[in-house]
Amino acid sequence: MANLPDLRVQLAPRCPKGLALSNPVMVAAGIVGYGTEYSEIVDIQKLGAIVCKGTTLMPRAGNTQPRLVETASGLLNSVGLENIGVDALIRDKAPIWANWQVPVIVNVAGETIDEYVAVVAKLEGVSGISGIELNISCPNVSAGGIEFGVDPKLAATVTSAVKAVTSLPVIIKLSPNVTDIKEIALAVEESGADAISLINTVKGMAIDINEGKPCLENITGGLSGPAIKPIALYMVYEVAKDAHIPVIGCGGIACAEDALEFIMAGASAVQVGTAILTNPHISLTILEGIEHFLEDKGIGSLTGLTRVVRDNCFVPSPLPPPFKEEG
Ligand SMILES: Cc1cc2nc3c(=O)[nH]c(=O)nc-3n(C[C@H](O)[C@H](O)[C@H](O)COP(=O)(O)O)c2cc1C
Repeated sequence: MANLPDLRVQLAPRCPKGLALSNPVMVAAGIVGYGTEYSEIVDIQKLGAIVCKGTTLMPRAGNTQPRLVETASGLLNSVGLENIGVDALIRDKAPIWANWQVPVIVNVAGETIDEYVAVVAKLEGVSGISGIELNISCPNVSAGGIEFGVDPKLAATVTSAVKAVTSLPVIIKLSPNVTDIKEIALAVEESGADAISLINTVKGMAIDINEGKPCLENITGGLSGPAIKPIALYMVYEVAKDAHIPVIGCGGIACAEDALEFIMAGASAVQVGTAILTNPHISLTILEGIEHFLEDKGIGSLTGLTRVVRDNCFVPSPLPPPFKEEG
């Protein structure tokens, strides 16, 4: 029987603790809360990793309804970081995760650098947490509301401030709402980020013409789903070309073929978001599809695909078969 392809990935080679995944399929932040209900319907232990809902220092109620609206091939949301707060997460969720095989990454949000630092410092040494993902698409209230993720200096400052208080691997999640994504990516890499994930939602809005008012109570929101996939793919490609740390692709991934596109564009792993809201099982279907693709092409490991971007060539070059030629 042929050897199964090796799907393991190391997402934090620069961090002494590392972030080893059994495969590259992760669940994106904000999609399955803390993963506990999701674990009742899907065998999540088979997944690469789970990223939990954005967590802040204090609990947050989020924005008022309506805060979700469907658009052509997409979903607009203005959930507004509803979450239980870091203390409840440590008390009620981390002990559950500590019994899981699948690594759980805590997505962290904040309104000031001090808030990001305080949340991350509280997570240090908590069992059940394998890494931090910093959502830097949040407005910095001490800097007039400019988002951390749109300014390379702010993005770099929050990255190094957080790295200074944790031994956990830190993934910086980039906002697509910028002019030059590569500039931000390289700034956070230089400031100690262990990996980069991209993209968060794309700013958007929808108007109910009969009511004559925006569909979202918050007026604007973030667009996700298939509509943003080409944007996300382009940004992953742009960043992966020059980054020296692993890149995690996210945005509109709804099938194995989508995930493979991101991997060929240079992503070491992928996050599945909105697609899970319509089919919770899609994460595992995507994983199986990646495995079958590699098997069919006779490619022994994921790196056989990611390296194609380095060679500027989009034809996957199969690795030698995983057995020795006789004679
Ligand atoms: C309802 C909803 C809530 C989200 N909450 C978060 C969050 O708390 N933190 C974060 O970094 N991203 C959050 N996101 C963004 C997703 O993690 C992901 O980056 C984005 O939706 C693009 O991927 P997709 O098109 O596969 O959904 C949220 C997205 C949705 C749809």
